[in-house]
Amino acid sequence: MSPEEQATAAFRAQFGDDPTVLVQAPGRVNLIGEHTDYNDGFVLPMAIDRRTAIAARPRSDTTVMAYSQGYPEIQFDLATLERGQGWGEYLKGVAWAMGIDGLPGWEGVITSTIPIGASLSSSAALELATALLFTTLGGLSWNPVEAARLSQRAEMDWVGMNSGIMDQLISACGQAGHAILIDCRDLTQTPTPLPDGLSVVVLDTGTRRRLTESSYNQRREECAEAARAFGVGSLRDLTIADLSTPPAAMPPTALKRARHIVEENERTLAAATAMREGDTAMLGRLMNESHVSLRDLYEVSSPALDAMVEAAQAFAGCRGARMTGAGFGGCAVAVVDTTDVEAFIKDVGARYREATDHEPAVYVCEAAPGASVIVG
Ligand code: GLA
Repeated sequence: MSPEEQATAAFRAQFGDDPTVLVQAPGRVNLIGEHTDYNDGFVLPMAIDRRTAIAARPRSDTTVMAYSQGYPEIQFDLATLERGQGWGEYLKGVAWAMGIDGLPGWEGVITSTIPIGASLSSSAALELATALLFTTLGGLSWNPVEAARLSQRAEMDWVGMNSGIMDQLISACGQAGHAILIDCRDLTQTPTPLPDGLSVVVLDTGTRRRLTESSYNQRREECAEAARAFGVGSLRDLTIADLSTPPAAMPPTALKRARHIVEENERTLAAATAMREGDTAMLGRLMNESHVSLRDLYEVSSPALDAMVEAAQAFAGCRGARMTGAGFGGCAVAVVDTTDVEAFIKDVGARYREATDHEPAVYVCEAAPGASVIVG
C-alpha cells in the first residue's frame, strides 16, 4: 500500500468517513554538495519515492488533532500555540511560520515511508506536507519556494535545528526523473536528468547519531569563522586559489572546513555537468571524492558510514558512493548500473555485515515529484 492509501485507510478507521484532503511530500537523497547549502553554495539532491502523506478534514474550531501509528497523538490549539516536545513541534512550527491568523483547525492521520533520523529528510517532508495541508484547507495559494522557506524557518526558529534550505526546497520542488542543481544563494534551480541505465541506491547503515544537532551547529560556526577570517560574506565567495594564501591567524580546523566547501562546490557543478553528459564514471568519481572530503576535511562521517561506502565502492558496477545528508550516521548513497543492482544489493549487504555489527537496509530510489495535493 502507498502512504496515501495507508493514510486514507487509517483515516477511515479513525473517523468512520473519507478524508476531504490528502497531501504528500517526499523525502530526499542528496547526490552531492554536502554542507554547502548554508554557505550559499551548490547542492544536487533529488526527491525520492519515499514520502509522508496526510489524510485530513477541517474542523470548525482552531484545534489540530493528528494521529500517526506508533507515535503519541498530537493535539494543540492554533489560537494558543505553545512550544512543547515531540513530533507535533513540526506541525506547530509550520503553522507559526505561516502566520496562524486565519489558519483552520483540522484532524487527520499521518503516515510515512521515510525512515526517521536516517538523513533522508523525514522532518522536511512532514513540514512540507503540513504546509500544503494548511494551504489547501485555508484556500491559500501554493508557492513551493515560499513554502520551503517558511518550513526552514519552522525548523530553525521553532524546532531549534539550524538547518540550511536544501531539504525543504527539494521536498517542495522535486521533479520525477531528475535531480535538481540548486544555487543556494539565490535558489535558482536547474533540473538535471538522471542518466539512463543508472540507479540511485540508498544504503542505510542502521545507525542513528544523537549528537548531529550540536555537531551540525558547530560546523556552521566554523564556516562562519573561516569566512570572517578570509573577509568574505560566505565561503561561496572563495576560490581554490584563495585557499593557498590563508590569513595568518586562521585556525587549521577552519581552513579544513573551508577547503571542503570550496572544493565541494566545484565538484557539485562538475557532477551536474557529468550527469547531463551521461558521464556516469565522472559522476561516480566526484561522489567518491566528496566522501573523502567529508570524512577527512569536514569530519562528519562515522565508522559505519565509512564501512558502507567502502563496501559499495568494492563492487565493480558501482560508479561511486558517499555519505549523504548531515552525517554522523544514517545513510550513504551509491550510483550503480541498473543491470547490476540486484547483485550489488546482495554484495554490499554481505560486506557491510562482515565489517560491522549493524544490520543494513537498502532502498533503490526513483527521483520523484515534490509535494502535491492528491485529494482536495
Ligand atoms: C541537513 C540539513 C541540510 C544540509 C545537510 C548537509 O540535512 O538539513 O540543510 O545542510 O544537512 O548537507
